[in-house]
Amino acid sequence: MTTKTPNSSNSDAALAGGHEATTASRRDFLTMAAGGMCALGAGVALVPFVDSMNPAADTLAAASIEVDISKVQPGQGMTVSWRGKPVFIRRRTPEEIAEAEKASLADLKDPQADKDRVQKPEWLVLIGICTHLGCVPLGTKATETRGEYQGWFCPCHGSAYDTSGRIRQGPAPTNLEVPPYNFVSDTVIKIG
Ligand code: FES
Repeated sequence: MTTKTPNSSNSDAALAGGHEATTASRRDFLTMAAGGMCALGAGVALVPFVDSMNPAADTLAAASIEVDISKVQPGQGMTVSWRGKPVFIRRRTPEEIAEAEKASLADLKDPQADKDRVQKPEWLVLIGICTHLGCVPLGTKATETRGEYQGWFCPCHGSAYDTSGRIRQGPAPTNLEVPPYNFVSDTVIKIG
C-alpha cells in the first residue's frame, strides 16, 4: 500500500489535462487494450497454470492506496494514480453539491442520482478516464476548463461532465466511473 498526497509526483500536473497527459492516456489505453487481447489469446493455452500464477495477497493489497486529502480546499481537486489509472478527487463546494443534487434523472444520458455516487457529499472520487475513447478530461485543477456543466470537459471530442461526474453533453456514453474506496478517517481515503 502506498500513500499519496496533493504534492505527489502523480498529482494534477502529471496526470490531468493537457496534450501530454492526453497522449499518455491514449497510449496507456491502447497498451491496456492490446494487453487485454493478448491475455485473451493466451488464456486457452495457459489455463493449467492459472492457479499457480494468481497474485499473492500482499500483491493485491499493494493495489490499494491511501490518499491524504487534508490539504484540498473546497472547489479544488487532486489527481492520484491507482492501478495505472488517474483518479480524480474533488472537494465540492455547497453550490457544486446543490447543482449535482438538483439535476433531474430524466435529463441524464446515464441516469444516476448524485447520492448514489458519493459517500460524503463534499467529496467526489472518480476514475479520470473519459468513457468515450479514454482521454483524461480537464477540470480537476481550478485553472482548467470544466465545460458547460462545471464538472470536467474532455476536449478530445467535446464530452462535458457535471459536478457529479455524469455525462451531460458530447459522445461519451456513460458517467465517469466511481472506483471502490472508503474513508479511513476524515482526511484519508483508501482507494481500492
Ligand atoms: S475521448 Fe473524451 S470525448 Fe472522446
